[in-house]
Amino acid sequence: MSEPFLSVQNLVVEYHVHGGSVRAVNDVSFTADRGSTLAIVGESGCGKSTVAKALMRLLQPAGGKILLDGTDLASLPESRLRPLRHKFQMVFQDPYGSLDPHLSAQDIVAEPLKLRGVRSKTERSKEAARLIDRVGLPSSALDRRPAEFSGGQRQRIGIARALASRPQLLVCDEATSALDVSVQAQVLELLREIQADTGITYVFISHNLGVVQEISDHVLVMRRGEVVENGTTSQVLTRPQADYTRRLRRAALDPATMHGIKPRHVVSSLALKTPA
Ligand SMILES: Nc1ncnc2c1ncn2[C@@H]1O[C@H](COP(=O)(O)OP(=O)(O)OP(=O)(O)O)[C@@H](O)[C@H]1O
Ligand SMILES: [Mg+2]
Repeated sequence: MSEPFLSVQNLVVEYHVHGGSVRAVNDVSFTADRGSTLAIVGESGCGKSTVAKALMRLLQPAGGKILLDGTDLASLPESRLRPLRHKFQMVFQDPYGSLDPHLSAQDIVAEPLKLRGVRSKTERSKEAARLIDRVGLPSSALDRRPAEFSGGQRQRIGIARALASRPQLLVCDEATSALDVSVQAQVLELLREIQADTGITYVFISHNLGVVQEISDHVLVMRRGEVVENGTTSQVLTRPQADYTRRLRRAALDPATMHGIKPRHVVSSLALKTPA
């Protein structure tokens, strides 16, 4: 049997605060096959973003392994990690903070191409223009700066920038949560098309179980830094085993408590479909 593309084993992540340490992620294990989408769900503070940052090695895990295509990212020193970083990229909730306000969209997307070793500026500009077109923005977007775009457009620039590295793994941390439902649906569609074209693997973090149902093959449910449930999307969302997942699901079905999506924006395509 071939190894899964991503295999996280017994991951432990701690934050150092006030001279002590807080364990935010405790003994978390999961796998994802190449070309698949794994969603991570769970209440605020359960450790989803901490897992994401550990996968990106923006945080050094205190224990466990992160095997990406057989290489343990958790144990590599930064010098050996750097040449591999293009393989794993992340899209954040609000790319505004992470997009340089002084650069044009074209330059923002061209930046990672330098790291990929594209030496010629003309080539970089051409490739950036291709990527900006790929994420559905017009060529008039090329010269504009982040402040001149809507939230959905900025998210597309964030995705184009992540794609410039030709990643094999893309972690989307609440990447569509700030967008209204129709724009969210367009960005999800874009992510799906890109996956169909490139075989990229997604780890998709979301509060919104309707979105999770739309996009993911497998779902990992976290609570207080630990995994409480892990299975195929239909297993976890329609036949949850853990009480906690059942509660999350009930909360998701109740528009009044739906996270990340305003009740008036709930439309049938993204509302959680109840089993027949
Ligand atoms: N930089 C930090 N220093 C100390 N503790 C932190 C830090 N970042 C996160 N934590 C703590 O780690 C735990 C997990 O946080 P994390 O951001 O991973 O949660 P999350 O599941 O992404 O939540 P949300 O859904 O609100 O984004 C929380 O208890 C949080 O307070
Ligand atoms: Mg988070």
